Order: sequence, then C-alpha cells, then structure tokens
Amino acid sequence: MPVESQPAESQPVEGALTSAAIFITLTVNEGSDSLQKLRDLCGDLPSLIRAVGFRSAEAGLTCIIGLGADLWHRLDAGATPAGLHPFREIRGHRLAPSTPGDVLLHIRASRPDYCFELATQIMARLDGAVTLQDETQGFKFFDNRDLIGFVDGTENPTGPALGKAVLIGDEDAVFAGGSYVITQKYLHDMTAWNAIPIEQQERIIGRHKLSDIEFPDDQKASYAHNVLTSIEDNDGNELKILRDNMPFGSPAKGEFGTYFIGYAREPGRIERMLNNMFVGDPPGNYDRLLDVSHVTTGCLFFVPTADMLAAITDGRKVTG
Ligand code: HEM
Repeated sequence: MPVESQPAESQPVEGALTSAAIFITLTVNEGSDSLQKLRDLCGDLPSLIRAVGFRSAEAGLTCIIGLGADLWHRLDAGATPAGLHPFREIRGHRLAPSTPGDVLLHIRASRPDYCFELATQIMARLDGAVTLQDETQGFKFFDNRDLIGFVDGTENPTGPALGKAVLIGDEDAVFAGGSYVITQKYLHDMTAWNAIPIEQQERIIGRHKLSDIEFPDDQKASYAHNVLTSIEDNDGNELKILRDNMPFGSPAKGEFGTYFIGYAREPGRIERMLNNMFVGDPPGNYDRLLDVSHVTTGCLFFVPTADMLAAITDGRKVTG
C-alpha cells in the first residue's frame, strides 16, 4: 500500500486577533548547552501549550515560535528557507533599525493570565540559555483600536485568501507550510498626534476614525498609510499580509505604543511596504505616521511547521 503524504502542520499563524498577547524576543547564548535547551523547547512547546491552555478552551491559548537567520545557521538544520535573512535596516526619510533576535514567541489568548503562565513556563525551560531582547505585553483597546485611536486590522485577509497570504507553498517546497514574520515596536508621541486635527489624522491613515470606513480611492492622499501599504504583483494581484498588531504602554511613564507583527508567505512584500513607508513612494512621499511614531526594534523570523520543529529537536536536517 502506498503511504499517503500528510499535509504540513503549520503553526497557528492564521489565528484571529485576541484580547491579550505577549511578544518575547530572545537571543540564544553561546554554547551547545544553550542550543540544546532551545531544541528541547521546540519539542516540548506543544505539550506546554496543552498543559496551560487545556484549563480553558475559551481562553484559546496559542503560541507561535519563530527562528531568526543567525540561529537557523547555528542549528545546522540543512537548507535555508528562501526568504530568511536578518532584518534589513531601512534608511529613508526615517530610520527602521535592525535589532538582535534569534527567537520570537508570539503568545495569544483571550485572557492575559493564560499568556502570562505560558510565558513563565517557557522562560523556565530556557533558563540560562537565552538573553532577553524584548518583552511586550499587548492588550485589546476598545473595539480593536490602536492607541492612536484607529481600528487596526480591518483589511486583514480572511477565508482562503488568508492561507494564500501567509503560508509558504510550492515556491519553496522544502519549507511549505511555514511562514515568515516581521516585528517592529513603535512608540507614539501622543501629544504631537493629538495636536493633529482629526480630519488630517484620517488623511494620514486613509480611513474615517470613528466609523473605520475607508476613503474612496480618489479621495485618499498619496501618502495615506493604506495607499503606501497596498501593493500588487506584476499581474496586478494585491499582495496581502496578516497583521496582529497590539497596543502596549505605560500611561504613568508616558509610553504609548503599537507592536507591529506581520506574517507573510515571503518577507519581500512586508519589506516593500516598509520601504514605501520609510523611504516613500515615490521617495519622499513617506508615511506621515512616522512623524509621530518612533520605531525601536526590527526583526525577521521563519515560522517552521510541526515537522520542521521536530527535526530541529532531534538534530535532523529539515527535508520537507
Ligand atoms: C505605527 C505602526 C502602525 C500603525 C499604528 C498602523 C495602523 C494601521 C491602521 C489603523 C490601518 C487601517 C485599518 C486596517 O486595515 O487595519 C492599517 C492598515 C494597514 N497597515 Fe498599518 N499600522 C502600522 C504599521 C504598519 C506596518 C509597519 C505595516 C507593514 C509593513 C503596515 C501594513 C498595513 C497594511 C497592509 C494595512 C492594510 C492596507 C489596506 O489594504 O487597506 N502597517 N494600519
């Protein structure tokens, strides 16, 4: 009897926006012991998620693990996913820096306690093996608004278009079912933003603030955020990504931020959007959001499938 090949089991990249999330970026310390702890975590992650998450189905706990380019080479896992490279700094009208990151943990649930407990358990497994680069705890702000007051996530792809946007296909067959994710941490100058009249804020985003209704194309400013981030391939097909942005901050410290996290089947489309925002399209026609938002981090990760994570755990090559 021929053995039928199973479809790849992707991580839950396609999950919906939740009310709570924790984003943890780590670098893996030198030495084989540290690498081994990371390999062990790749194997143990599903059971940790089950153990913490089973206590409440409604909490919908998930965790995605992404691996950076330098770490991928250290793991000696075989071929490199076609789009995997360190995040490339963009020096345009504004600077988008590239910052260290070997591992991304994107933990989501409808309840922050579930995210918190899973993060605690994961960090205990990695004790001594990693250096923390960033931890951001995100929260839902009213009707999925970011802290600049606009609904964020409306134009995310849904249904069959979602998988097509975020999961690698035959174009890189060994890594099919995987994904890429880019993260950036933005801090908003709320005094400056609030000083901008709402009509101008709406032109900057390209949508009405209260109703979230999009401006007709012929009424959008050339620099509108939704003009600069709407891109097409050579055949005129729109190139979509999935954004799971979350607000974060500390009112007492005057910190108000958006954690940008974008998934795509190839990182080039997110890089094109970033280029349009930071350099401008045409150059100089940059995203005015950046006049009031300062970006402090920039990382790119590959999101392996379950089989690839198993191969990494066992020290095998990823063969597809
Ligand atoms: C300060 C950080 C950011 C904020 C506050 C922000 C906010 C928003 C808002 C309010 C919308 C309109 C509603 C929606 O469709 O979600 C939007 C749309 C969008 N944003 Fe952002 N965004 C940020 C950064 C980014 C970055 C870094 C990218 C990509 C590199 C990006 C890509 C997109 C895309 C693709 C859309 C949908 C455009 C469309 O199809 O209409 N955003 N963003």
